[in-house]
Amino acid sequence: MAAFARTLTSSLLLMFLFLNYIEAKEILVGGKTDAWKIPSSESDSLNKWAENSRFRIGNSLVWKYDGSKDSVLQVTKEDYGSCNTSNPIAEYRDGNTKVKLEKSGPFYFISGAQGHCEQGQKLVVVVLSPRHRYTGISPAPSPAEIEGPAIAPTSNAAGLKAGFLVTLGVLVLGLL
Ligand SMILES: *[C@@H]1O[C@H](CO)[C@@H](O)[C@H](O)[C@H]1NC(C)=O
Repeated sequence: MAAFARTLTSSLLLMFLFLNYIEAKEILVGGKTDAWKIPSSESDSLNKWAENSRFRIGNSLVWKYDGSKDSVLQVTKEDYGSCNTSNPIAEYRDGNTKVKLEKSGPFYFISGAQGHCEQGQKLVVVVLSPRHRYTGISPAPSPAEIEGPAIAPTSNAAGLKAGFLVTLGVLVLGLL
């Protein structure tokens, strides 16, 4: 019986590591290597792409571009709105930029190339909070989603992880 429990515990640990691995995934901005540029139309914009993507805590965004001509600036909401490049939170110009999304909520990025942001080369990414399941810049979650039990059976990795941790805890306590 103890052997069975140990096997189960190891399986759950592996699952846990696997879920962490999923969260560590890298997301190529725009889904292709030449996406960091002035969009040719509204439907071609990076925010259209972002609305249809899911971003979780632990994911990394990756930009590929010509570092001699362009850059990626992480800015405040205000500077995003006004395309103000003078005071970025962070500035990247290496042509192969990776930014880890460490917390939930919105992240604002604009191009540092002269006039590019004004022409639409900008991106807002909204990182899902662990307990909410809405995507991108969609409407706020319904009250039912906010007031659910602490460990609700959610479909996201964080929810699964919480569930596994609890199961793991119960098993370990059972072995003692
Ligand atoms: C950009 O922001 C800085 C401070 O962060 C401010 O001093 C400057 O006036 C702003 N420029 C424009 C064009 O709004």
